[in-house]
Amino acid sequence: MKISLHEAEYLLNNGHLVAVPTETVYGLAASIHHPRAIEHIFARKGRPSNNPLIIHLAHIDQLHTYAKKITDDTLKLLNHFWPGPLSVVLPIHEEMIPTQVRSGLPTAAFRIPSHPKILDLLTRTGPLVMPSANISGKPSSTCSMHVEADFGKNFPVLEGGTCQNGLESTILYQDEGLWKIIRLGALTANQIAEHLGYVPEILCKKMEKPLCPGQLYRHYAPNTRLYPTKDSKALKGVVIGFKERNYPLATKIFYLGSLDNSQEVAENLYSLLRQLDKDSILEASIDMDFPIEGLWATIAERLRRASQ
Ligand code: TXA
Ligand code: MG
Repeated sequence: MKISLHEAEYLLNNGHLVAVPTETVYGLAASIHHPRAIEHIFARKGRPSNNPLIIHLAHIDQLHTYAKKITDDTLKLLNHFWPGPLSVVLPIHEEMIPTQVRSGLPTAAFRIPSHPKILDLLTRTGPLVMPSANISGKPSSTCSMHVEADFGKNFPVLEGGTCQNGLESTILYQDEGLWKIIRLGALTANQIAEHLGYVPEILCKKMEKPLCPGQLYRHYAPNTRLYPTKDSKALKGVVIGFKERNYPLATKIFYLGSLDNSQEVAENLYSLLRQLDKDSILEASIDMDFPIEGLWATIAERLRRASQ
């Protein structure tokens, strides 16, 4: 159900959930001041309680209420990329953040999104905690129709069009003075390196004790069984591939977009994964023969996770 900015503000300030647009993906928002609403987020999504949420802010000054030990370098980094598709994990004043937001951790993730509607809403409501607006484990939502498909036609959604990035924010974490990527996302390692002067290490691979708890779980996955491959002979039956390639063994092709345009592929990715389920496709192979650089690294990671 489409609602106005004023209705969204009213619902959030009274402890209800609202789906909201951001430039990355739609979020399922609750006010940081309503712990019961925050619990409701986990219930509605079927999200494990040990997977913490990102706190979304309207202005960088709000960070000082929640985070501690914010260095000048951190502020420089955030001033450079915010508002935008970057989240950072910082040590916090624990008493300021409801424990369920951060799953009991002594840190929390923060972001200022750039979509004008969510920025406007955040200035009215104060900080909002929100995961992506999808059933846990399923592809994220990049338009209001995806949100309605997951949460029903009556669920309140602030319409914001199709998400510009189509992939979640990149998450950074500081370790021994160096920033490391704990979730690949819409901001590339090279874009971050240009600012930092070094390429941030990528720590997203499965670890014994993951720094980013969300990495533990099956994610972004449709019901369709997916088979990623670089072997052109394995691309048969239903194939997920690229416009400029031929797939002679395919019976049906779902196009991610062009190999020349990673942004187009990013925008299409979750819609395509959702379409597979709509069309009741049982299995499909994915053409993974593309160079893993820039945004393609994030796209490859999402396709592999969707195939687990
Ligand atoms: O683009 C985005 O980041 C979107 C939009 C709505 O802002 N949000 C999003 O949230 O992707 P979610 O909940 O789907 O993913 C948040 C990730 C999870 O993998 C979680 O484990 C990680 O952030 N996270 C949150 N707090 C953390 C913390 N204190 N330490 C490490 N990872 C954290
Ligand atoms: Mg998510």
